Amino acid sequence: MSKKIIEKNSHNLIGKDIISLDQFSPEEIKEILYTAKKLKPLRDLAKPSKILSGKIISLLFYEPSTRTFSSFASAAQQLGAGIIPIQNAASSSSVVKGESLKDTILTLECFSDIIVLRHPENGSANEAAAVAGIPIINAGDGTNEHPTQTLLDMYTIFEETGRLTNLTGVCVGDMLNGRTVRSLIKGLSLFKGNTVYLLSSEKLRIARRELHALTASGIKLIEISTEKEMPKNADFWYWTRVQKERFTSLKEYKKHKNTLVLTPRLIENYAGKKTLFMHPLPRVDEIDVSVDNDPRAVYMHKQMRNGVYIRMALLALVTGKKV
Ligand code: CP
Repeated sequence: MSKKIIEKNSHNLIGKDIISLDQFSPEEIKEILYTAKKLKPLRDLAKPSKILSGKIISLLFYEPSTRTFSSFASAAQQLGAGIIPIQNAASSSSVVKGESLKDTILTLECFSDIIVLRHPENGSANEAAAVAGIPIINAGDGTNEHPTQTLLDMYTIFEETGRLTNLTGVCVGDMLNGRTVRSLIKGLSLFKGNTVYLLSSEKLRIARRELHALTASGIKLIEISTEKEMPKNADFWYWTRVQKERFTSLKEYKKHKNTLVLTPRLIENYAGKKTLFMHPLPRVDEIDVSVDNDPRAVYMHKQMRNGVYIRMALLALVTGKKV
């Protein structure tokens, strides 16, 4: 199957790779979100569907994953597709024997219609897309991007606040290594009037050049280093884990972890009645578990469930299936 060449802003995702939030127009984001909403009842009611009947989706994961891997597996099977599940590719596939990413992609292309790829290296999804004759969906490439996470985050924000414009958010934690924050900023920059505060220690700030590039896209970014600088009544707080696997020194990691913890005290002091508490998960200790029961906390149920709806929408739209 050869990829269709489709212009940016065409609204048409058929045959497209899903690599970065940079590739989308606001209309395409809205189309994905509306499609997810349409498909949601299928999963909620466990209603069998043949939308992707005959299709096979490869899940090629070189890095650990619970949510992204299983929600793609759930989405594909909910829509009637088969899956080729490869977790731990670096230890359980022919990668162990030295097979390159390119050859692994060319192999799975022979057996499937879409490859969902998670890989520890920045740019690996692009690299795979350059050689693949079938669509590649980036399920996280190093510290670079995690576009399907952002689409589910944006779906969650839209469902809960009713808008994607004029939002004030606070992203907290590891801004340097966190691919979800990077993608979320890019996603929100497609819509007008959004402001995101970035709360982290100085060492874990976004690289300067990247910060300038992100700001140039129109979103207002405000870096802060203490909770006292947090805005009151933000629309959402997006907490993130300090990414242990990206540190070369365990000592350095330990210095940074748990310096910013989401607690009931923080909520009492800075959150509004409708502030959403979000986290891409997994969490380690950066959210006090007592926050889980707060009705504003969406990370453990709504946000994760939305991941299946979004991934169903992406698989349907990329394969050109009418929903
Ligand atoms: N949010 C996320 O990417 O989780 P996993 O690493 O478990 O897939």
